[in-house]
Amino acid sequence: MRRLVFCGFLFAMFAGAADLSGTWQNEQQGRGGQTFVTTCVFKLDGNKITGTYATPQRAYDIENGTVDGDGFTFQIADRFQTPARITEFKGALNGAEFELTTVRPAGARARGPQGPRTFKRVSADTVFHTPPELTRTHQPFPPFQPIAPNGFAKTPPMGWNSWNKFAGRVDDKSVREIADAMVASGMRDAGYVYVNIDDTWEGARDKDGNITSNEKFPDMKALADYVHSKGLKIGIYSSPGRKTCAGYEGSYGHEQQDANTWAAWGFDYLKYDWCSATAVYRPDEMRSAYQKMAVALRNTGRPFIYSLCQYGELNVGEWGAAAGGNLWRTTGDIGDNWRSMSSIGFDQQVGREVYAGPGHWNDPDMLEIGNGGMTTTEYRTHMSLWSMLAAPLLAGHDVRTMPDFTRDILLNKEVIAIDQDPAGVQGTRVRKDGAEGQTLEIWKKPLAKGVAVGLFNRSLENAPMTVQWSEVGVTSSSPKVRDLWAHRDITGAPTEYTVTVPAHGVVLLRVE
Ligand code: GLA
Repeated sequence: MRRLVFCGFLFAMFAGAADLSGTWQNEQQGRGGQTFVTTCVFKLDGNKITGTYATPQRAYDIENGTVDGDGFTFQIADRFQTPARITEFKGALNGAEFELTTVRPAGARARGPQGPRTFKRVSADTVFHTPPELTRTHQPFPPFQPIAPNGFAKTPPMGWNSWNKFAGRVDDKSVREIADAMVASGMRDAGYVYVNIDDTWEGARDKDGNITSNEKFPDMKALADYVHSKGLKIGIYSSPGRKTCAGYEGSYGHEQQDANTWAAWGFDYLKYDWCSATAVYRPDEMRSAYQKMAVALRNTGRPFIYSLCQYGELNVGEWGAAAGGNLWRTTGDIGDNWRSMSSIGFDQQVGREVYAGPGHWNDPDMLEIGNGGMTTTEYRTHMSLWSMLAAPLLAGHDVRTMPDFTRDILLNKEVIAIDQDPAGVQGTRVRKDGAEGQTLEIWKKPLAKGVAVGLFNRSLENAPMTVQWSEVGVTSSSPKVRDLWAHRDITGAPTEYTVTVPAHGVVLLRVE
């Protein structure tokens, strides 16, 4: 009897294992409107799983895969991160389907797909056949040589970008209306001059390989002319890979041709987003792949601001400027919520200040101000923090319907002046105090004249905060102090200043 039970157990184990081997797929809808297919190819050896986990952008080897009855786990490693980022998955088999969940270590930020995904069996094939779009075909790059700065973006770029609000819904009409609204609202005159079209404008290539725009954008040159006629500049988006993040046509193999097309259309700014380039290049080739486009843009003879978007991987601050970039993203995508904004702005920029300066900036991602996911107090913190960081100020809301409380934040000229200060120094945290893991932060940003001082309260209670002028580098014995949100001068604060800072809020000062 015991032997029978044991045999039954072995059979069950074997049957479970046998069921899992093969090729499985999940389909998901992206924000740009495209369908993304993820493939799992599993090969079983006892309770050990090997094989491939492939997104539209990249194929990973399955590591440490084990199956136990209907449950299984495996890991993948992203070696574009230093140290490599390990993602662990947990699966539950149910007949011809399984549910796959990403296991996040306690406190880790959500990355990649959220919630369980259902994979369906598509074949019994246990071999991953690399599709053409994931094949490396490029010629090796010559050894990397830094290139000289292009001389642009002496202060952090300012403007608007379509992604945060519109994603795949951006079109010719909305871009024209945004341009109109940027003039009417005073945004242009406050310095927001770039109108940047993000992903989902791309069409197919024509028979000569020239990139075209899709039906949402009937005439890119006419659109650029329109935006220019308003005294604004216009930006475009692409990827060094075959496909963009939203699954549209990328610039791989057409770098110079695309740069020429954008220049002929009259574009002034490029955001170049890594995404599927992981399928084409190895990590040590990333900076050369970025430099290739920098050179292509320069070859056109048209001035372009060049924005690198590779989420801060491989310590981009070390080489972003040498690759020809004027700015580079430092993190994954911002979300319109306090947790995302405050984590990116307060925690994930620390230490990067050494890489920022006139012509080359850290980019903590576009603004969410006006999109509705945070309170006015929190959006004021967002604007203040980005200005202290000398971050690019790229608004991401619907400018056409901007209420006064949003306008008052984005058009606060005294705060913009902190961001745009000609010294181009990225501000830093001086200290953290307060309960619950230190929620009260004092920041300073040395200016061409004086110092900007931010008193930030990350807690859920209003809190009194005191700053000593000596700790933020103010040397004057009778400093001139101005509150940049209250728009008033503060008197009677010769050596220090104490103020109640609202929950999730800020008091931003200019001290000279
Ligand atoms: C990535 C970028 C975003 C946006 C989208 C477009 O996620 O980080 O800023 O450009 O791609 O697909």
